[in-house]
Amino acid sequence: MDEVKPVSSANLKSPQGPKCILSGVQPSGKLHLGNYFGAVKQHIAAQGDGECYYFIADYHALTTVHDAATLRQNVLDVALDYFALGLDPEKTAFFRQSDVPEVCELSWILSTVAPMGLLEKAVSYKEKVDKGLDSSVGLFTYPVLMAADILAYRSHLVPVGKDQVQHLEITRDLAVKFNNRFGDTFPLPDYRLTPASKVPGTDGQKMSKSYGNTIDIFAEGKALKKSVMGVVTDSKTVEEPKDPATCNVFALHSLFATPEQGEVLATKYQAGGMGYGVAKTELLSLIDAYFAQARERRRELASDMGQIQQWLRKGAEKARATARATLELVRSKCGLR
Ligand code: ADP
Ligand code: TRP
Repeated sequence: MDEVKPVSSANLKSPQGPKCILSGVQPSGKLHLGNYFGAVKQHIAAQGDGECYYFIADYHALTTVHDAATLRQNVLDVALDYFALGLDPEKTAFFRQSDVPEVCELSWILSTVAPMGLLEKAVSYKEKVDKGLDSSVGLFTYPVLMAADILAYRSHLVPVGKDQVQHLEITRDLAVKFNNRFGDTFPLPDYRLTPASKVPGTDGQKMSKSYGNTIDIFAEGKALKKSVMGVVTDSKTVEEPKDPATCNVFALHSLFATPEQGEVLATKYQAGGMGYGVAKTELLSLIDAYFAQARERRRELASDMGQIQQWLRKGAEKARATARATLELVRSKCGLR
């Protein structure tokens, strides 16, 4: 079940009327099953629950992607992935973050109310530097730009994975600090966590591009088979009973299976007499069936990139109009006009 943080009584009403739902995804490589079950799936499902703004966080990606052609390609790949997986450009404003440069201005303004100590406590900066990323100022102030993304649309609800919760807390802190200093301006956004907060990778660690243990959403054929067959298991023989609760193959299987299919497989695990190869083959066919339609749709969409670009522009126009209105208000509140 989705975990929804109770809406704070301090929340201000949005002038936009319907609830604004916002989220972003970094274009830092091919999307994988962790991204799908940890983020994309609920973004798609939330369309229609309110006014949705979803964007491809290309400004943020500059902290890690340093090649222009790669960044451009990654942005288009993410856009194709989202549209193929069910993003509806009629319902949702889906856009490139950098098509709304107002967020950079808001980011600067928010940085003037952001205490250094608050950012120094952010774990994602430390984790990224520990992983070997350049410790740029941009990487350090990443959460302020993220707060600007959220507050520029005066968002109410931000569906994210667990790793982003601290960023949401920082966003709320910055909104409160701005409101206290300059008067009520921003509603305090709440987050909604996905049920699948830690999809395991092929090696059993959290699936992540940086661990090289991913199964990509749009992998198929031999490449998909190779990833699935490579999922690490213990070394129990075919005859031995196996424990579904500790098995990576079973954990991945349960993301795709119906409860009945899950029970049947669990019974086979516990009875013994079934090798992990059988479970992996079943997982492979569930993945194939689950994404069959999206793969087909992606192929169709890829043959008309002009359409994709046009949808992104349309999303950006809507988003920019909202961000401009917020910035007008913000500038006047803090004396920039
Ligand atoms: P990566 O770790 O591959 O770089 P990102 O940090 O770009 O992935 O994650 C993008 C989104 O996908 C985030 O909201 C994150 O919470 C979610 N996500 C990434 N990996 C997983 C995972 N293994 N399980 C659940 N959610 C994940
Ligand atoms: N930091 C998020 C991630 O790595 C991406 C992101 C940027 C985002 N701005 C956002 C997510 C605003 C939600 C809201 O996944």
